[in-house]
Amino acid sequence: MKARIVKLAASAGVLVAMAGKVLAVTSGEFSILSINVAGLPDFLNNNEVPGDKATNSKLIGTKFAQYDYAIIHVQEDFNYHAHIYSTDTHPYRTATSGGVPFGSGLNTLSHFDWIDFERVKWDTCSNASGADCLTPKGYTFMRAKISDGVYVDVYNLHADAGTETADKAARAANLAQVADAIDARSAGNAVLVFGDTNSRYTRSGDGIRVFAEQNGLTDAWIEVVRGGRVPTEETVCANPSTTNECETVDKVLYRASPLLDLRAAGWAYDSRRFLQPDGNILSDHNPVAVNFTWATGSALQQSGFWGGPHGTWFSDVPVLSAKASPKVKAVAFRGAKRLDNVGLTLADGTALAHGGGGGDEARLTLATDTGEYWARAELCQGQKDGRTRNFYIRATTSTGRTLEAGTATSDCATFAAPAGWGIVGYLGQAGDEVDRLAFVYAPQ
Ligand SMILES: *[C@@H]1O[C@H](CO)[C@@H](O)[C@H](O)[C@H]1NC(C)=O
Ligand SMILES: *[C@@H]1O[C@H](CO)[C@@H](O)[C@H](O)[C@H]1NC(C)=O
Repeated sequence: MKARIVKLAASAGVLVAMAGKVLAVTSGEFSILSINVAGLPDFLNNNEVPGDKATNSKLIGTKFAQYDYAIIHVQEDFNYHAHIYSTDTHPYRTATSGGVPFGSGLNTLSHFDWIDFERVKWDTCSNASGADCLTPKGYTFMRAKISDGVYVDVYNLHADAGTETADKAARAANLAQVADAIDARSAGNAVLVFGDTNSRYTRSGDGIRVFAEQNGLTDAWIEVVRGGRVPTEETVCANPSTTNECETVDKVLYRASPLLDLRAAGWAYDSRRFLQPDGNILSDHNPVAVNFTWATGSALQQSGFWGGPHGTWFSDVPVLSAKASPKVKAVAFRGAKRLDNVGLTLADGTALAHGGGGGDEARLTLATDTGEYWARAELCQGQKDGRTRNFYIRATTSTGRTLEAGTATSDCATFAAPAGWGIVGYLGQAGDEVDRLAFVYAPQ
């Protein structure tokens, strides 16, 4: 009886969630900035930037706040990090991983909150030129939440510098490492990669084409400024640059997904915004700014996530996006103490399942001939061995029939498909159990 009262209380939350859904923002625009902030200790490298690095770093933070970019990636944010953060005002910022030789120099300042933040060190570095092995350079990953149920996977990076053979090999290995990470984490998702790639299209062996070839990413500069033409002759930018035509190693690459239409609308060196009062530069790199427009998918959308950041990423989006109008024939869960597995069978017979083989199976066949579809789901999360995961799921169909598995907790959320849409698949993270879960919606 007690459990039922808890569930009724949770159902009251449903209306709020559904009311919120009606008001959900489904399109918008945002700006991003990539800037190498030249924050190595002055005695190691003055970056040929005039003035005092602490003062310059405070001014960089002031400019971040003034121009209000939605997501900023910094590289070489080492020993003057606190000065940048002291004047910047972005609400979501990564904690520094330290100065030289402890940190990677990578940080994110954002208007968007995120789920997951990971710092990954390069597998390969080269001392051939520069001191790339001195400090643990690498890449970072986060899934930024642009709006309710709207996410983009965001990667910052600082690849190996130098132009000797060993440098180029290390750099190509670095970029390939990010490309593999995108395949592993971001299948079916929109992706933004921006940072200091230390690469040029005109230098063979840098490996920058890996993102187009392996991940289907577009370089926003090639698209917006160069009309799709990949440069064949090397150009070098002045600093501050007076033109957008010259190629820099700081690059912005991206892709849309069936869940999120994403387009680069503007690309610029925002160099003139980042100058000292006397006109001198603040960094030895030109800052790169890109404006994006976005809209939720017209054929597929997703819910928010529930559960914790454990297990292997999975997504039904690649399978679902290949189908004209996916409909669910049967829903199947496994659960006991916790939620072990979530699955479903599509009308065309495709079976999708995620998680392990434990628990008891619960199954519901939908009356597809009378138009019944899966309208909303409730998830409850809890802690097991100090890690958050999903303990309970309840599906409710368009005709009010339900299917449940696992054990309800007091920490629950309800995800309702937009009006006229239904749940047709899953994405999240799973292992033996369903650690983190979100739902894929399609029109019914
Ligand atoms: C690079 O140089 C550092 C410092 O001399 C050394 O500790 C490191 O092992 C070197 N790494 C490689 C890959 O050569
Ligand atoms: C982005 O949009 C803002 C506002 O319209 C504009 O001021 C800025 O120049 C644009 N930047 C780029 C890189 O297109």
